[in-house]
Amino acid sequence: GTVPAMRRPRLDNSVRLFTQGYAWLPDKRRALGRRTVPTRLGGLPVFGIEGPEAARFLYDEDHVRRAHAIPEPVQGTLFGKGAVHTLDGHEHRVRKAMFVALLMDDDRIAPLVEGVTAAWDAAVPGWVRREQVVLFEEARVVLTRAVCDWAGVPLPEDEAPAVARDLTALVDGFATGGPRHWRARRARGRREAWLARLVDDVRSGAATTPQGSVVDVVARHRDADGEHLDPHVAAVELLNVIRPTVAISWFVAFSGHALVRWPRYRKQLAGGDPAFAEAWAHEVRRFYPFAPFIGGRAPQAVEWDGERIPAGAMVLLDLYGQDHDADLWGDPYTFRPERFLDREREIGAFELVPQGAGDPRTNHRCPGEQVTVAVLSALAVRLARLDVEVPEQDLRISLRRIPALPASGMVLRVHGTSG
Ligand code: HEM
Repeated sequence: GTVPAMRRPRLDNSVRLFTQGYAWLPDKRRALGRRTVPTRLGGLPVFGIEGPEAARFLYDEDHVRRAHAIPEPVQGTLFGKGAVHTLDGHEHRVRKAMFVALLMDDDRIAPLVEGVTAAWDAAVPGWVRREQVVLFEEARVVLTRAVCDWAGVPLPEDEAPAVARDLTALVDGFATGGPRHWRARRARGRREAWLARLVDDVRSGAATTPQGSVVDVVARHRDADGEHLDPHVAAVELLNVIRPTVAISWFVAFSGHALVRWPRYRKQLAGGDPAFAEAWAHEVRRFYPFAPFIGGRAPQAVEWDGERIPAGAMVLLDLYGQDHDADLWGDPYTFRPERFLDREREIGAFELVPQGAGDPRTNHRCPGEQVTVAVLSALAVRLARLDVEVPEQDLRISLRRIPALPASGMVLRVHGTSG
């Protein structure tokens, strides 16, 4: 059963979890010379863990649960309240099945990729006409148009930039206090109200959406209790499809960064070989910092790696750290897409973890990984085909800022598309 401590979230000061950025747990591991690092946060014991075995440990619900584990400031911005991320057990499985059906199906992914590439191609002439563009900002508009269309969310042409700004604000503001955080909360309020109204209208017949669209499936979904989702929770889950798809803009901007830093890959990527494009997508997701860690709380006292983890303690899997673990990745700080072509065996379910580990059908692993890889490979090839100049700019990526991004957002002068 749950212990009293589980009912009382003590992570109100959760921003402190994030203030030291991506190097927080890796630095502690180095300092202690240990893979498992015990620490504290506002009186709450926290255990930072890392490695495939640690990932296996964390995804066992006897060891770690999500309920009462996700800090309010993260729910109020990134995920939304009542989201799939916060459920455990049977309730989680029933809600998760909805995402699996919507996202882990090649017949659904293909039209999304087509829509994204069509929106990119339609945007290029406008970029050519402008003096310069910020890749991150352009990618998010392209992705917003395509994902809303694919999901069955009506979006007037001229509203795409404002929606795109709000959707990236949700991600930009979860790990910080101050203006970025409040911007994210306002964006969430606006977009939940917008989508809850759409769900209401679809249910009442006042609006229509294509049969089988994301909006249609979410509006008709029945939860573990046999009931439809409350319109607000339905809006939260619609945002949990649309928001992370638009967040692929971070990886598009990182791809732009990698093409500037390692220009020798441009030709090969532009060639469009699907195997290389996929290897590129994997290496971008492995190498660049995005999701820092995941975790939950121990429902009962449990042992891991010689540590006694008390009931109610927080357990965090260091995603960024594991994706740079030298035992798993030779030369982890070298950007080398070929590492995913040369492999003798498939990537293990608990090895590459930018979007979680294990089996997404039964645990909390991201159900949008195929979508991410498919969309990112397609856009990276198009990016490599752009004929661009890269003006002087600040390309540094601070590991202290979550989420990280090249400081400039990747400014490009686009002349057209070559080859
Ligand atoms: C969960 C990362 C894209 C939908 C997650 C988790 C991570 C993650 C780390 C949590 C895993 C865990 O707690 O065990 C990312 C990154 C993305 C991305 C870095 C790149 C942009 C997507 C896309 C979609 C998506 C494109 C949908 C189209 C979800 C959902 C969950 C999730 C619904 C919650 C799953 C659950 O709690 O069972 N993602 N994701 N993500 N992601 Fe993604």
